[in-house]
Amino acid sequence: MKKVFAGALATVAVAAAGTSLVAHSGVVDVAADVPHDATLVSLVTWVREQSIARRSADIAIPGDLADGERIRRGAGNYAAMCAGCHLAPGVADSELTKGLNPPPPNLSLATAAPADGERLPARQFRIVKHGVAATGMPAWGKVGMSDAEVWDLVAFLQALPTLDAAGYRQRVAASDGHSHADAGQHAAHVDQAAKKAGREAHDHAGHAH
Ligand code: HEC
Repeated sequence: MKKVFAGALATVAVAAAGTSLVAHSGVVDVAADVPHDATLVSLVTWVREQSIARRSADIAIPGDLADGERIRRGAGNYAAMCAGCHLAPGVADSELTKGLNPPPPNLSLATAAPADGERLPARQFRIVKHGVAATGMPAWGKVGMSDAEVWDLVAFLQALPTLDAAGYRQRVAASDGHSHADAGQHAAHVDQAAKKAGREAHDHAGHAH
């Protein structure tokens, strides 16, 4: 028994030393424009899924996620803050989906969500509020969104895969746009910074590659 234990310990030690050696040598390419190593991806995916499952297990899902007002408010923030990465009905890709690795899932497709069944909204709340480190998914709770505003987004995410392009545009047009509590402050901040640099904020004419 002692021998088996010592053998297992030695195997773990060799594996840990091997992993450290590989990491230390710098051979792992972390560039976003090359495929990631399959072993590394499955390890990171496993760690991510375990972490999200554990941290979303106790989140109570509000009973009113199908409420039209919640979905209406969520639509405007989704279009302003998420669609660039997570797309919209009728939009197949964007510069961000092409450039990011891992690529953001297309949340307008029902197949984008994992089969979490009725716990899916809790998973989405956890991810939207806290983000996912080292992936490009921001922590929206950190930019001043309240829990209620994050739940509005989650409510919209449940409706999104059922919308076609016209339905999506209608929802966004009927919303209050980029309207969470701190959104105005960010806009003012951006305007100020842009003025300082001697140009208009959101000057898309300058985006000309
Ligand atoms: C800069 C790009 C970017 C923006 C902007 C962004 N996301 Fe993400 N998001 C990602 C990436 C990348 C992932 C995949 C993370 C991973 O693979 O672990 C992700 C994952 C997610 C997931 C998890 C999907 C799943 O179940 O596995 C949800 C839900 C999500 N984002 C919602 C949002 C919402 C809502 C917004 C807007 C408030 C948003 N994201 C804005 C890049 C982005």
